[in-house]
Amino acid sequence: MMTQTVSTFDDIAAREEEFQLATYKKFPFAVERGRGAWVETSDGVSYLDLYGGHAVAGVGHCHPRVVAAIKEQAERLLFYSNVVHSGVRAGAARRLAACAPGPLGKVFFCNSGTEANENAMRMARLKTGREGVVTFTGGFHGRTADSISATFLGRYRDLGRPVVPGHTCAEFGSIESVAAVADERVAAVLLEPIQSMAGVRTAAPEFFRALRRLCDERGIVLVFDEVQTGVGRTGEWFFAGSEAAGGVVPDIVTLAKALGSGVPVGACVVTEDIASAVKENDLGTTFGGGMLAMAAVAATLEAIEADGMLENVRAVERRLRERLAGVAQVSGLRGRGLLLGVEFREPSAAQVQKALLERRIITGTSSDPRVLRLLPPLCLTVEEADLFVGELEQVAKSL
Ligand SMILES: Cc1ncc(COP(=O)(O)O)c(C=O)c1O
Repeated sequence: MMTQTVSTFDDIAAREEEFQLATYKKFPFAVERGRGAWVETSDGVSYLDLYGGHAVAGVGHCHPRVVAAIKEQAERLLFYSNVVHSGVRAGAARRLAACAPGPLGKVFFCNSGTEANENAMRMARLKTGREGVVTFTGGFHGRTADSISATFLGRYRDLGRPVVPGHTCAEFGSIESVAAVADERVAAVLLEPIQSMAGVRTAAPEFFRALRRLCDERGIVLVFDEVQTGVGRTGEWFFAGSEAAGGVVPDIVTLAKALGSGVPVGACVVTEDIASAVKENDLGTTFGGGMLAMAAVAATLEAIEADGMLENVRAVERRLRERLAGVAQVSGLRGRGLLLGVEFREPSAAQVQKALLERRIITGTSSDPRVLRLLPPLCLTVEEADLFVGELEQVAKSL
């Protein structure tokens, strides 16, 4: 069969529209290749990617170590399911567990963020024998039934109707609000420790400490959705256990996005106590733990360590904080590490995003119209950060 090649952007866009559902508003270009914090379009134009391919390109686009590992694994064995043992899966799980703060030490692999959250809620129910789940205003946890029912951001939850019963919502940052709904029917409290899509909203360390105490007192499983904050994004391997978390370690952390550098993979990292409640056949997935994804996970974690990316995240964050403090139209910088929300005095994030795109810089917006969201690769350099701020200064003047 002849394969047709498409070359120009107009051709590509027209064919996408013809053969795909129009579920996403897209940037006005087609990407063809990427390296580090840069992507190149079908027209040969380079963009600085401060959106990181939707927070997935944590180690940067096409990190050589990850590419080599995937290539090598693809030639040996693409896939076998969990009915066989696998050295590459064992290696990925061991590495991931080693990055996690104690007592998180056991891993269940799946394929996406929403699936990781579904499995976390299921494990909490297995552990407690209860069904309820408490989540938070502004939280986003995915689009499959249980995860979308746990999502109280904007109109997402309505898209998932009919919702799964047993989900209740508390005010993010308010322990009194959690205490009022976390009764004896509740199996899990699930939260994004930094609410990314809601506009990079954070809570105080005292909130996390109070949450840990409350969950312990009431026999509730505490789950951090670290689909965005995990795998080095905040300048630590995980938000869990960090100073920003008040040192709190939840019972389960869920991960996805940057974990496989673009090969779809999700994971739940759990304590021994949670693991002991999960028996054969309680959880399952065909693709989870497949060899190609596992090679990508192991290489991603190795790359973060070998390239000193956690230190880099902290250094680039410091630089961005210093420089953005001098931009008159910027009223604040939210978040941590390289999950940052640039807050403007006016609700102008969409306008700024568009203007930056014209200057060949990709950024994200959020559900807060004043907040421009940055989720760049962890290998972003200080020079690249400066380039962004310089362009932002120009753009902001014209607001
Ligand atoms: C915090 C958070 N949790 C869960 C998800 C769902 O992940 P996925 O799209 O891989 O299902 C997302 C996706 O954006 C997310 O940001």
